[in-house]
Amino acid sequence: MYNGVFLLFGATGDLAFKKLLPAFYFLDFQEKLEQCFYIVCIGRKNYTNLEYQNLLKTKFEDENIEFLDSNFNKFKNRIHYFNLNFENIYDYFKLKNFIESSSLDLCTENNLIYYLATPPKYFKTIPKLLKESQLNSISKTKKIIIEKPFGKDLDSAKKYNTIINEEFNEKEIFRIDHYLGKQMIQNIMILRFTNPIFENILNSEFVDNIQIHVSESVGVLNRGNYYEHSGALKDMVQNHILQIISLICMDEPLSLSTKDIRDQKLKILKNITVYDENNSKKNIVIGQYDKSKDHIAYVNETNINKNSLTETFVALKLKIQNQRWQNTPIYIRTGKGLDKKYANVIIELKNNNKLYDISKSNIFIIQIQPKEGMSLEFNTKTPSTQINIDKQHMEFCQNCNINARSPQAYEKLLLDALNNDQSLYTRWDEIESEWSFIDSISKILDIDYRKKYLQKYEFASLGPKKSFALIENDNKKWLFK
Ligand code: BG6
Repeated sequence: MYNGVFLLFGATGDLAFKKLLPAFYFLDFQEKLEQCFYIVCIGRKNYTNLEYQNLLKTKFEDENIEFLDSNFNKFKNRIHYFNLNFENIYDYFKLKNFIESSSLDLCTENNLIYYLATPPKYFKTIPKLLKESQLNSISKTKKIIIEKPFGKDLDSAKKYNTIINEEFNEKEIFRIDHYLGKQMIQNIMILRFTNPIFENILNSEFVDNIQIHVSESVGVLNRGNYYEHSGALKDMVQNHILQIISLICMDEPLSLSTKDIRDQKLKILKNITVYDENNSKKNIVIGQYDKSKDHIAYVNETNINKNSLTETFVALKLKIQNQRWQNTPIYIRTGKGLDKKYANVIIELKNNNKLYDISKSNIFIIQIQPKEGMSLEFNTKTPSTQINIDKQHMEFCQNCNINARSPQAYEKLLLDALNNDQSLYTRWDEIESEWSFIDSISKILDIDYRKKYLQKYEFASLGPKKSFALIENDNKKWLFK
C-alpha cells in the first residue's frame, strides 16, 4: 500500500465530488488506503478545511453514497483543503510550504501524486508551474494522473506531452481512460484468453461483424464549453471506444506485464481505418440532437453556439488492417440524447449452416453497463414432433444480484496508480495512434461536410435514421438491446 499525499487539483468540480472522492471514500471503507495517506483538495474557491469537509458530506449525501454515518468522520481526517489560483506561481510556493510544514510529511515521506481534474485550459499551466516552483524537489517519488482530453488533435497532444515530459517520465505519467477501469472492460482479457471457446473464433473466418454501442440518455449538461469543441468523435471515440476495440481485437500478449499488453493494443490502434478508405464518407454518420417535447435542442443548451455544427452522435464502419481481422467490419455508434444509457460489445458470428434455413446467427454479447455480464445466443430444436428451431439466450450477469456491488472504475484506477500499476492507463504511443486515426476522420468532417450531412435526431430517440442505413446497406442490422 502507499504512504503519500494525493494533490487533487480541481477539488470543487463535479469530477472530484461525484467520482474521485467517492472512489477514495470506498477504498478507505474497505481499508485499502494506508493510514498515512492524505488528500489535499486544491481549488480556486476560498473554503476553510471544515467548510470543505461539510460541503463534501453534503455532496456525498446528494449522491446517495452508502455507509456515511459509520465512516465519514474517519475519512474526513484524510482531507485537507488548500486554496490555490492555478495560474499564480506564488500559490505553488505556498503549497510547497504547506506540505513541508504541516504534519503531512511526517509519515508520507513526501510521495506526491498530482491529479488534474481541472478544466483542460489548465492542463499545460499546472505542470509548467509545478516545474517552476520546484514543488517536486521536496518529493521522494512523484506521479501525475491526467484526465482526458489529452489534447484536441495529434499536434496539440504532442505539445502537451512535451510539457509534461519536462517534469515527469513515462513511468510517472498515468493517462486515465476511465472505461479501462470498468469491470467488464477488465474482463475482456479474461473472457478471451482463459476461454478457448471464445478466443478460437475471434477472427475474420468466424466473425461476421463486431458492433460497439455506447449510448447516453443525457444531453451535454453543464459541459457545453468543452463539448462544443470536442463532439462525440473526440469525446468518446478517440479514447473509450478505440480502447475497447484494441482489447477485443488484439492478439494474446506474451505476458500480463504492462508493456506486453500495451504493445499488443498498440498494434491494433495503429491499424484501425475507416472501412473502404477510398469511399470513407459513406462509412461515417454524424448527428446532433434536436428538441423533443421534454428537452431543448443541443443548439439551445448553455454555452453552445446557436449555429453549432458539433456532432452529438457518431456512427462509423471501421476495419483493422491485419490478417486476423481484415475482412471483418466493426460498426460503432455512440451519442448523447439517445433513448437510454448502456454500453455493450456485440460479436455476430457467420452463419454458415446450409442444412436448416431458419437458423439464426450465434451472437456473443459483452454487457459493459448498466448490466455487467455476457450472453450468448444460439439455436436449439423446440420439443415437438417436427423440426422447429428456436433462438436461445444464455446469460451471465455479475451485478444483477441485489447485494452485488461492483467497484467503480475510479476505485480500481486510483488504487492502481497508488500501487504503480500502469496497465489500465494509456501509454503515449497509444494516444498518438488514437489521435492520428481521429485526425484522419476530422479532416473529412470539415464545415462543408457538416453543413451537408449533419443529421438532426430527436432527443431521447434511437439516433439519426442514416445510422441505420450505414449497417442495413450491408444487409446487417444493429443488434443493440
Ligand atoms: C466521459 C465523457 O469520458 O465519459 C462524457 O467525457 C461521458 O461526455 C462519459 O458522459 C461517459 O462515461 P460513463 O462512465 O458514464 O459511461
